[in-house]
Amino acid sequence: MEKIDVLLQMTKSNPENASAWYLLGLEYAATGKNNEALQAFTEALRCNDPALTQQIIGELGKLSLAQSPASAPVQSETSVPAEAAAGKAEVVAVYQTNDAERHEAVDEAADETKAEKVPVFAINQPKAASHIQGLGSERPFQVISGGQAGKRDRAETPITFADVGGLHAVKNAIHMKIIKPFVSPGLFERFRKKVGGGILLYGPPGCGKTFIAKATAGECRARFIPIHISDILDPYIGVSEQNLREVFSSARANKPSVLFLDEMDALGYNRSRSATSSMRTLIDTLLTEIEGIDTNTDKMLIIGATNMPWDVDPAFKRPGRFDKMIFVSPPDEEARATIFRIKLHERPIEQIDYALLAKETDLYSGADIENVVELATEEVIAEIMRTGVERPLTMKDLKNAIQSTQPSTIDWLRTVKNYVKYANQGGLYNDVEAFLSRYKRI
Ligand SMILES: Nc1ncnc2c1ncn2[C@@H]1O[C@H](COP(=O)(O)OP(=O)(O)OP(=O)(O)O)[C@@H](O)[C@H]1O
Ligand SMILES: [Mg+2]
Repeated sequence: MEKIDVLLQMTKSNPENASAWYLLGLEYAATGKNNEALQAFTEALRCNDPALTQQIIGELGKLSLAQSPASAPVQSETSVPAEAAAGKAEVVAVYQTNDAERHEAVDEAADETKAEKVPVFAINQPKAASHIQGLGSERPFQVISGGQAGKRDRAETPITFADVGGLHAVKNAIHMKIIKPFVSPGLFERFRKKVGGGILLYGPPGCGKTFIAKATAGECRARFIPIHISDILDPYIGVSEQNLREVFSSARANKPSVLFLDEMDALGYNRSRSATSSMRTLIDTLLTEIEGIDTNTDKMLIIGATNMPWDVDPAFKRPGRFDKMIFVSPPDEEARATIFRIKLHERPIEQIDYALLAKETDLYSGADIENVVELATEEVIAEIMRTGVERPLTMKDLKNAIQSTQPSTIDWLRTVKNYVKYANQGGLYNDVEAFLSRYKRI
């Protein structure tokens, strides 16, 4: 098989493999297939691998020079901005057919990156030389700096800890255990400290486990890769394990990444209770994959989540695996006020007392608060349709909605109370115990 065919196959099986796209680009360039080379380098840039960004820009520059008449001077804009050199800025190659379209695209790219304010730069050809030969449709091209994340992620600004109301203890624990070693590995390297394993978030439903995992990825400027059990499990023997291995290798290929394994109770179902041997094989595969990760070199974090920590296989809780379990409790008063603020943002509202709303929603989860806001909004819309008179959402609507709902976390807290009482070996559930001690009614 030709080298190009092998590389094509690699990019087909994993379109996020920046190295494969880059090598493919080199092969095409070496054989004079400039159009294909350009497309391959563009794909490589889209994968947003900071380690390769500079090389790819260099190759694109060479490609551009190769297409210019020998006399055409390279303009100063060809220099790579500091952000790109540092591997921070993503660069997107854009094909244009005319000047008007080019400006549109530049504006669009600038819009997409306005949070970053990364300067737009281009490998511009002098007017006469702006048509690249050999590209079929004679299209000039330019390189525009983009945002930090991949093209698909750019549509939404990443969530960070600033978007998460309260949960200070959880944020601190995540900072110490995984963000610090991830963003400043130097100290850990000097002490030969292996940084690996992950954290396991547990708590009642709707309290922000998925949300804070997403925010962790935002904090580390890493790609968020959520995995649900349905993505992994397959009735055919060996396929689930294969799926799992592929998930890990894709996370490695897309580093830096935060791999979020949801429903850990179902994935790592307590071995003694698991009925089939195939599930045990899957558990072993997952354990091997987790142990194989060294955050220093892999730039990859693992966050697991579950509502039923007592059903998670104890093997996952040993050092080097999910050796830190963090309780994501129902939001406290301050966090509830923040969540109300977020959920009511951009809706027509009148004189909202967030502190009072927070006071009246003790033990409500973030999802419960979202539900309160939705119910109140539905009522207002129904009334407007009935009367034909438009009005904003008021405190009264929200209070009515609160009165018609119950916090959904109570059942979970009652269940965990028994585990705290009878199965708190090694102080596994101390945080829950401290939380419960403040609520006599549970
Ligand atoms: N602390 C918080 N700050 C801001 N928003 C929150 C917070 N906690 C929850 N939310 C909001 O509540 C919603 C539900 O949270 P999330 O999906 O993260 O819950 P979960 O703990 O993962 O639930 P489950 O156990 O059912 O998976 C989110 O969409 C988020 O907007
Ligand atoms: Mg979740």
